[in-house]
Amino acid sequence: MRLIKTKNYEQMSRQAANIIAAQIISKPDCVLGLATGSTPIGMYQRLIEMYNEGDLDFSSVKTANLDEYKGLTRDNDQSYYYFMYNNLFKHVNINLENTNIPNGTEPDAQKECSRYDKVIADLGGVDLQLLGLGRNGHIGFNEPTDHFVKGTQCVDLQESTIDANKRFFEDISQVPRQAYTMGIGIIMSAKKILLIANGADKADALQKAILGPITPQVPASILQLHPDVTIIAEETALSKMPK
Ligand code: F6R
Repeated sequence: MRLIKTKNYEQMSRQAANIIAAQIISKPDCVLGLATGSTPIGMYQRLIEMYNEGDLDFSSVKTANLDEYKGLTRDNDQSYYYFMYNNLFKHVNINLENTNIPNGTEPDAQKECSRYDKVIADLGGVDLQLLGLGRNGHIGFNEPTDHFVKGTQCVDLQESTIDANKRFFEDISQVPRQAYTMGIGIIMSAKKILLIANGADKADALQKAILGPITPQVPASILQLHPDVTIIAEETALSKMPK
């Protein structure tokens, strides 16, 4: 595990963008596993800048997002499709047909989970998986539980996640209670993983993920077993690490 400490959010975002850019440059038809949320917004902005400066070409890049709220349509401004379209896809020359996100409008969870597992398999797996970190240690929407799940799953979101995400909605009653997410097994099968974290509210989860016991109660702790993980974290997110 490589740990990079940055002095602020901007530096975290730029360094993370550099790693994604290096992946695209070294393998133009790579498969990127992407994340949403507030953490990667600056990184996506930096990637857009690089594209506008002529330094990046997304035309052959393929993507697979980690997760999507169950029940939200693509045009709902809180859906992760909407997020990806507005924060990255519409600004670069990616072919939308090469982008993949779980379908939140599919009511049959078994069907959607099998479909998304096949999408990832057909892509040949993920070259570089980007992750944010939940305050409760979740990655994707794999919430703390008593076992690690392999494939795509439909999860009941924990109250702490609903509470953390209510800031994006008009009120808490509008936060979906379920989501589709790539399972831990899919995340762990990515060739490389890049986790980014900022803010003191991530410090506890990050310390447990890096140094704590490997347990499904802290889903990100499984990353200790992956051979190629880079964590880029801004200093307050690392405030619970030993000096
Ligand atoms: C989003 C995702 C989640 C977030 C996590 C942190 O696609 O998979 O695991 O990365 O909830 O969210 P933010 O960045 O909003 O703190």
